[in-house]
Amino acid sequence: MKKETILSGVQATGRMHIGNYLGALKQFVDIQNEGKLECYFFVADLHALTVPRDPEKLRQDTLEVVAEYIAAGLDPKKSVIFIQNHVLEHAELAWIFNCITPVGELEKMTQYKDKGRSQKDSVNAGLLTYPTLMAADILLYKPNFVPVGEDQVQHLELARIIARKFNRQFGETFPEPKPYERKPLRIMSLKNPDKKMSKTGDDPLYLDDTPEIIEAKLKKAVTTETGAKNLIETLSYFADKSVVDKFTAEQKSGEIRYSELKSVLATTISDHFADFRKRKKELLNDKSELSKILNDGAARAREIAVPTITEVKQKIGLL
Ligand code: TRP
Repeated sequence: MKKETILSGVQATGRMHIGNYLGALKQFVDIQNEGKLECYFFVADLHALTVPRDPEKLRQDTLEVVAEYIAAGLDPKKSVIFIQNHVLEHAELAWIFNCITPVGELEKMTQYKDKGRSQKDSVNAGLLTYPTLMAADILLYKPNFVPVGEDQVQHLELARIIARKFNRQFGETFPEPKPYERKPLRIMSLKNPDKKMSKTGDDPLYLDDTPEIIEAKLKKAVTTETGAKNLIETLSYFADKSVVDKFTAEQKSGEIRYSELKSVLATTISDHFADFRKRKKELLNDKSELSKILNDGAARAREIAVPTITEVKQKIGLL
């Protein structure tokens, strides 16, 4: 029997932090290793262009995400790993979807409204059509499941609407992908524990931070009640239950020493990502290995993408 398929992507925004890891990347790795689903994971570099980007930085950020995928355990032998722009069919199908999607639907998207507000003078058309490109990313592979974070649920719903609309107009083509259950997870900012850990305006714990940096960042972490809760919760993803229970009990009784909690957390995280740091560095130092992986990934992605686009073109009347 043919395996069911799962697909997801991460924008090419460079180094990932612990929140990104626990919220997305770790789940990708777990799904892959379970071995039940055919996995497609890509880096969305075309989506990254919707905000102004320095070309050299964009190239570097894209490769960094790929290196982190692999260093964290995504295995090119088990998953198809590729870069969005290497499979031209994404942009082609996005154009076709643009032509069946009412502007009104796109203007309703929360992310568009939020981002549009923050870039008032220069709302580019790509920001508006971001979700049709995302629908193309997804439907091109006719996946059964798509893991997305809360902020992308609305875009996935739009992809389902586009699938239905296309099917109605041109005949059954795209199955409607289902969201893949993701535990809501909130790793909070170390500096401001009322907000989520973030790359902007925050000082997040990056996966490849050196042990010294991890220690320094944690030393400065705020230990208000929510702050302390966040530190213990973060620890719970990486440490033995007995260690976590000890700090939880001490926090309840008021005996907790935050310096000890921080130091245990720092060591636990540094140790957990020791291999990750090493592997990431190796990959970025040997671009030939990375390009081989990416060429191979794009070729395998195209094996699915090309038949889909051929079917679509035939159905809509393109010669
Ligand atoms: N928009 C997603 C994000 O910012 C990234 C993305 C692009 C994606 N295309 C996708 C995720 C297709 C899942 C499926 O997180």
